[in-house]
Amino acid sequence: MHTSSLFYTKFYMALSVSNVVFVIIILLISSYKLCAVEHVLSYEMVNVVNEFPHDPQAFTEGLLYGGNDTLFESTGDYGKSSVRKVDLHTGKVEELEKMDDSLFGEGLTLVGKRLFQLTWLQKVGFIYDQKNLSKLGTFNHEMNDGWGLATDGKVLFGSDGSSTLYQLDPQTFKAVSKQVVYYKGKEVFNLNELEYINGEIWANVFQSDCIARISPKDGFLGWILLQNLRKELLKAGNTGIDVLNGIAWDSEQNRIFVTGKLWPKLYEVKVFPIKEPIEESVIEKLCLR
Ligand SMILES: *[C@@H]1O[C@H](CO)[C@@H](O)[C@H](O)[C@H]1NC(C)=O
Ligand SMILES: *[C@@H]1O[C@H](CO)[C@@H](O)[C@H](O)[C@H]1NC(C)=O
Repeated sequence: MHTSSLFYTKFYMALSVSNVVFVIIILLISSYKLCAVEHVLSYEMVNVVNEFPHDPQAFTEGLLYGGNDTLFESTGDYGKSSVRKVDLHTGKVEELEKMDDSLFGEGLTLVGKRLFQLTWLQKVGFIYDQKNLSKLGTFNHEMNDGWGLATDGKVLFGSDGSSTLYQLDPQTFKAVSKQVVYYKGKEVFNLNELEYINGEIWANVFQSDCIARISPKDGFLGWILLQNLRKELLKAGNTGIDVLNGIAWDSEQNRIFVTGKLWPKLYEVKVFPIKEPIEESVIEKLCLR
């Protein structure tokens, strides 16, 4: 082969290799940019579709739907902490296991036929038989406190009042994942009562009327603003009520229930998007603590 033609062959090969490398780099950069683009956050409110009675003495810390129009509830406060089985329609407490006066009941979830309950300032939790609430054992976890608890049937999702959403192994209770939740770059602290809903975790933000929707994979998804519920209760003369706390999901009928500490009512709600733009300062005042 003639030297100059060999030179040009090599030159063109090098050129096409560098082209391919160049194209790959461009693709990588653009796909990185696509990933880095924040997903559109949702801002929602709720319509009440049903109201049910709720024990106004229940300092609700954990709530879940157990099928057959039955709720399981964990209540807090020293001397008043308990686990309960509650009839949805009447609010009647059908079974109650009172806790020791030294304990403060917190998040509750159901895995199989066993209820798992956290306690506030201790790293110890309790396991109960779903049928009769008899105590089956205790467990220890690695979170700083015990606040919220939920499950997708595979892992336990836990909160401890910080901005971290934990995933715990339901056998060892070791943290297998710790996800810090951010809203527009700001940490969402005070993650409290949790519910697993359709692949998402919904978290009450303590001392706010807001629920944060969180994806265990993609992080913060949006806010649900529920200030109207507490406002209506106050307007109706229920001056002794405390904060919104307690989310339960009926996965079969896709019903969402919410209540609060010492609330005389439990609501079935439907979530809908807010049309008007909301000022950032409103969200910060309402939801960030
Ligand atoms: C469902 O609840 C009703 C009323 O409390 C009870 O009579 C019935 O036995 C329950 N069914 C099941 C399958 O647990
Ligand atoms: C509670 O129910 C379980 C079966 O689900 C049974 O083994 C246990 O003896 C019951 N405990 C009490 C105190 O009734």
